[in-house]
Amino acid sequence: ESYDMDGHDTYMHKEICEQADAVDRVLRGRIDDRFATVHLGGLGIDAREARGVRRVKILGCGSAYHAGQIGAQMIEELARIPADAEPASEFRYRNAVVDPDTLYIAVSQSGETYDTLAAVQELKRKGARVLGVVNVVGSAIARETDGGVYVHAGPEVCVVSTKCFTNTAVAFALLALHLGRVRDLSVADGRRIIAGLRRLPEQIAEILRGEEEIKKLAAGYAGAKSMMFVGRVRGYPVAREASLKLKEVSYVHAEAYPASELKHGPLALIEPEVPSVAIVPDDELLEKNRATLEEIKARSGRILAVGHQEQEVADHTIVVPRNEPELDPILLGIPLQLLAYHAALALGRDIDKPRNLAKSVTVE
Ligand code: G6P
Repeated sequence: ESYDMDGHDTYMHKEICEQADAVDRVLRGRIDDRFATVHLGGLGIDAREARGVRRVKILGCGSAYHAGQIGAQMIEELARIPADAEPASEFRYRNAVVDPDTLYIAVSQSGETYDTLAAVQELKRKGARVLGVVNVVGSAIARETDGGVYVHAGPEVCVVSTKCFTNTAVAFALLALHLGRVRDLSVADGRRIIAGLRRLPEQIAEILRGEEEIKKLAAGYAGAKSMMFVGRVRGYPVAREASLKLKEVSYVHAEAYPASELKHGPLALIEPEVPSVAIVPDDELLEKNRATLEEIKARSGRILAVGHQEQEVADHTIVVPRNEPELDPILLGIPLQLLAYHAALALGRDIDKPRNLAKSVTVE
């Protein structure tokens, strides 16, 4: 991939459209069918060390932090290691306890974000083991960490992250599978996840073929006063990233909440001028999520659902292809990148360079 626009009007559009190829690249050469696992050559931890990990703490900023939230859930689900993500800046300012049995992972597209780098340096100074999940080869964070996984998304020019976010989530799926297979993930589950990973590029292409439909929807939502994004568990980081994307590129105000938190406050904001986007995958929480749609509808809020089947209560549903439940978050956010893009286009925004933002924040 090049810095050329390749016939697209913006880098954001080009980078959204490159995602099937980008995901293909992060998978390439890493899958081991024989042992139903993946090889991550740069990780630098052996099976014994991987088995000794008691917790995983993931650190990043912006979209990288949200990709880390998806990663934490994958690691917890597939490897059964308690894992969570935290904004790197919060971590470095709160004098966190640094634990020798915790594996720390710094996530960064550029590998140059100052808060993330400073968190890595502080961790290293305290003797922690820190891995990087980074796009830019040889960047500061890649150099400071003990090893890691490159996400191989290719150059990302638009300030707003799309293909790097997706590839980072896939890189975490690989890491979670790897950690799972040296711990308690069965061969059968390893095979199931590998088959799911292999389906991703074609499924992404299928989502992107629905762009015209999403463009029409975006025109209807671009005039919203504010938008509410909701999801549960696997869907929550997807909602957070989609909300960030919309804010950054279209300047439409948006909030993201775990669906069950709506009733503890934000429900007061719901009215016809404040539509909701609900992440509703066909997983074990489907009925709970449907109840949320009813709650919103009862307050006369418009609803755009994103899931694996039409939702009757919603005004519109974007249907995405089904993968394995653990990998669904990778796909559910992609149509919402297009929604943010087309909302911004309809509003005449400076898509590749939103006001007040920088591609990488290398100062404090
Ligand atoms: C900036 C960009 C965001 C990005 C964040 C982290 O704020 O505007 O799009 O997610 O930095 O960047 P990184 O390079 O560390 O992933």
